[in-house]
Amino acid sequence: METLRYTLVQRLLHWIIVLLVLGLLVIGTILANVGYDKLVELVGSDITNLLYTYHKTFGVLVLALMLLRLILRQVFRPPAYQPELNRVEHAVGLLTHTLFYTALIAIPIFGWLGTAAGGFPVQFFDWTLPGLIGRNDELSGAFFQLHALISWILIGLILLHTGAALYHWRVKRDGVMQRMSLM
Ligand code: HEM
Repeated sequence: METLRYTLVQRLLHWIIVLLVLGLLVIGTILANVGYDKLVELVGSDITNLLYTYHKTFGVLVLALMLLRLILRQVFRPPAYQPELNRVEHAVGLLTHTLFYTALIAIPIFGWLGTAAGGFPVQFFDWTLPGLIGRNDELSGAFFQLHALISWILIGLILLHTGAALYHWRVKRDGVMQRMSLM
């Protein structure tokens, strides 16, 4: 039986976002825990500024790509599972996938607002995007706390999702992995 798959564009977007998000989690954690001044001492101001700029740039890119994925999901509905999943697998899958979309839209929005409220530029490659919110240090702190908290939830989701993918791929061998695989 031929496995039904997501479209090639959807599969490519999935794996591009995986790479971007892993990089964002690592660099973001370094930025927040080492801090600007200490990072300048360690690697110099050019590299430090590049790390901030690219964290913001690729974060905004993830936001844009996730919105694109939401639209594509309405146009090209997810293929049916063959063989059909049981009810628990369906429910856990639906919940995890919904939380992924929510987290990967909320995290960059809170990063954007936290950056702008802190009085910093929201950089996207060579452009500075509108901050959308005035300077407010307290609010900036709150937005960054949400940015960090949802990132931790995201890490939990990634572990659960990867575990489930491996289980379908290596244990159940039911073609679920091929739906999103590039090969
Ligand atoms: C999917 C997209 C994103 C992910 C997964 C992500 C992830 C993270 C993580 C894990 C941290 C460390 C949080 C902590 O431990 O306190 C962080 C910090 C940071 N993020 Fe993001 N981020 C994303 C998008 C953005 C965007 C769009 C912006 C701004 C436009 C941004 C700006 C920042 C800044 C400035 C910090 C350092 C905060 C500080 O110094 O306390 N992030 N990010």
